[in-house]
Amino acid sequence: MFDLVIKNGLIFFENSFVNADLAIEGEKISAIGQNLSGKKEIDAKGKWVLPGAVDAHTHFSLPFYDSIASDDFYTGSIAGAAGGVTTFIDFTAQENREGLISSINRRFEEAKPAAIDYSLHACIAQFTEEVANQIKLLPDLGIMSFKIFTAYNKIGRMQNDENLYRIMELCKLHNILVTVHAENGLVIDYLTNEAEKRNELGITALRTTRPVFTESEAISRVCKFARFTGCKAHIVHISSGEGAETLEDEKINGAPVSGETCPQYLYLDDSVFDRPNGHYWGCCPPVRPLGQQDRIWNCLNNESVAMVATDHCPFNKKDKDTWGGSINRLPMGIPGIETMPELVLNGALNGKVDLGIAIKSITENPAKIFGMYPEKGSLIPGTDADIMIFDQNAEQTITQKNLHMNNDYSVYEGLKIKGKNAMTILRGKVIFDDSKGWLGEKGQGRFIKRKAPDSKFFE
Ligand code: URP
Ligand code: ZN
Ligand code: ZN
Repeated sequence: MFDLVIKNGLIFFENSFVNADLAIEGEKISAIGQNLSGKKEIDAKGKWVLPGAVDAHTHFSLPFYDSIASDDFYTGSIAGAAGGVTTFIDFTAQENREGLISSINRRFEEAKPAAIDYSLHACIAQFTEEVANQIKLLPDLGIMSFKIFTAYNKIGRMQNDENLYRIMELCKLHNILVTVHAENGLVIDYLTNEAEKRNELGITALRTTRPVFTESEAISRVCKFARFTGCKAHIVHISSGEGAETLEDEKINGAPVSGETCPQYLYLDDSVFDRPNGHYWGCCPPVRPLGQQDRIWNCLNNESVAMVATDHCPFNKKDKDTWGGSINRLPMGIPGIETMPELVLNGALNGKVDLGIAIKSITENPAKIFGMYPEKGSLIPGTDADIMIFDQNAEQTITQKNLHMNNDYSVYEGLKIKGKNAMTILRGKVIFDDSKGWLGEKGQGRFIKRKAPDSKFFE
């Protein structure tokens, strides 16, 4: 008799669905088979039983100008669980040229209320000699990825090409993955200054000051640096079809790189800027002109873009409204952790992407790229019982009032989709039930020490 058995589900295992029971003992998956019995049983008849989703890109409580992202580690965990996410990776924030270790320790403190499992990317804003010397210390902490920016010069986060190259050389030595926000920051700053002179810094300036080539050029440059240094690199939040295809070409040419996109770049186009309060959709890189989205779906489907994450960085309307009509003062970012699994699976249910590829893009692939597989992102017996039970026959209309994210609007308000998360299990414990709501506890999330990235994604 097992502790818990999920009965009669369609279990996604080894790339296909099996109609079976899944048994859990304590925190681990014990068996997949027929007629298993449990002290507790959950009827999943006809529903998909999937690994819990991994969101490898969140920004809880991120300060941006005078605002702070409205989800903290606890509220963001609840929202993630409601959508089927059981693990997230957030970021440290290096302040005032401090060393890596102090920025990591501060983020460990802030992350204590997390209620699903998590890890951290170490962010390098200012690349000092102290930072260079501390890179080798990260593998022992289980932090196996850095985040760097090729944009955001004005707020002191941008790496120039020399530093980008040096960071990659050092990370190659220690098999640490370099994740990159890839936009050409200097060109963007020039175009923004010119737009300011013309008094044209309204939200539509995201189109003119951050054109698609500023992303594809930076992706190409990072990939070439990766190819020459041999450092594995991961391009975060790819927003354009041109950027995704650039990554695909660079991979074909031998660059050891992987990439992620986000639901906003698959579902939204830049006509949102013409709506009332278009600045509520402001994020960097911005959503792109119509036509780019299908090209990203194609790159997801051909697996050159291996995964989807969210860049979850929500601000309430009052915070967005502090922008005073200028993108130079707009807190950039939008909500997304809760809707990510459903939007990706809706894409599969609507024929935009193969179903197996869609499932892996939010479970197995991020877990492998970020060194957490098979404990996370799989249903293999012996690993963590992190599970999403998904009702693929449900239909819903996305609306803020049904969501758990701690902000007061949804960028997808009114969007009709197929499928809905029915239940989320974290290490054997039901933490979210669609009919009962949140059942977990503050602080139950566990920090996951990560391994090196899976080389398969960088060949
Ligand atoms: O607009 C965004 N994406 N805000 C969060 C910070 C970042 O660039 O990832
Ligand atoms: Zn970014
Ligand atoms: Zn981000």
